[in-house]
Amino acid sequence: MATPVPERGRRMNKSGLKKIGVIGIGTMGNGIAQVAAQNGFEIVITDINDEVLERGVANMGRSLDRLVKAYEKSEGAKGITAQAKDEALARVSTSTDLAALLPCDLIIEAAPEIPELKEGINRKLAEMGYDKIIATNTSGISITRLAAAYGKADLYMGMHFMNPVPMQKGVEIIRGLGTSSETYDTIVNLCHDMGKIEIPAEDKAGFAINRMFVPFVNEAVRVVEEGIAGVEDADKVTLCLGHKMGPLMTADFVGLDVMVFICNVLEEEFGSFYKPTSLLKRLVESGQLGAKSGRGFYVWEKFKPIGINPDVARYRIG
Ligand SMILES: NC(=O)c1ccc[n+]([C@@H]2O[C@H](COP(=O)([O-])OP(=O)(O)OC[C@H]3O[C@@H](n4cnc5c(N)ncnc54)[C@H](O)[C@@H]3O)[C@@H](O)[C@H]2O)c1
Repeated sequence: MATPVPERGRRMNKSGLKKIGVIGIGTMGNGIAQVAAQNGFEIVITDINDEVLERGVANMGRSLDRLVKAYEKSEGAKGITAQAKDEALARVSTSTDLAALLPCDLIIEAAPEIPELKEGINRKLAEMGYDKIIATNTSGISITRLAAAYGKADLYMGMHFMNPVPMQKGVEIIRGLGTSSETYDTIVNLCHDMGKIEIPAEDKAGFAINRMFVPFVNEAVRVVEEGIAGVEDADKVTLCLGHKMGPLMTADFVGLDVMVFICNVLEEEFGSFYKPTSLLKRLVESGQLGAKSGRGFYVWEKFKPIGINPDVARYRIG
């Protein structure tokens, strides 16, 4: 008998999962849901209200449109067909009720980086009787801590996607103290089903990527604060290292509130070397959170940088 050939853009499903729940349709949940839907999974997304959900699904449609345009422009070498876009969107449903996730084979949680919020979600799912794998997209909260709130440590794991999810291949996968080998294997297979590459890391503050990235951003901010180089030049010099984007622009994309949170987690575990720089803290205190709020190190319009934030340009210490 001939081996079935997956249709273009779809892989054979190795994880055995069919229906995936996604909690939070923000920057990350949106991309995670999109990529999973593109790869044939049925998706149920929950968020706090219908307006947020509608906006999120519209953003997902726009992101898929860009892939359709890429397909047409490259004559099929890149992107996806208009039919694949429609099929992906047809696999997505939304709800404001966490109970809508109960039939899912696995849940990916991409709610804000607030430990108590994520713990509350895990506790609620356990109380509702959910007893399958939950993967958290946390950037830095201890997987073991969050697993304790679920009460089923064997079925809990970190799956740290990179931003923007439709473009970035790498996913850090982090076992908590009690994560079972079966759960680990399922998550590895899910990465492959979604066209991603798994990068195993240990459950220590910042895992691997943020342990390296946070000091890199902090140092770039110091270079600006001390007047050694301007924002654009600080970013430009890192392009010489082969990076596609400088640390300050990347931090703006990640969200400066998320950056400060991870700095604090790292500082708590490893000491003052990881302390957030004063400019980073000031920006967050003033509500300038990066691309999502329209201002960070850069001024943003529809997620495109249009100049340097004048507040940053004049900020100096030392
Ligand atoms: N932004 C990044 O670059 C990035 C990268 C990797 C990991 N992460 C992590 O991913 C997670 C999500 O980050 P984000 O940047 O997408 O945040 P975000 O603020 O863009 O999105 C979070 C979403 O969760 C929703 N939400 C809030 N409370 C909820 C609840 N109780 N139930 C369901 N939904 C709820 C919000 O309405 C929002 O839509 C965080 O843990 C963050 O650390 C972020």
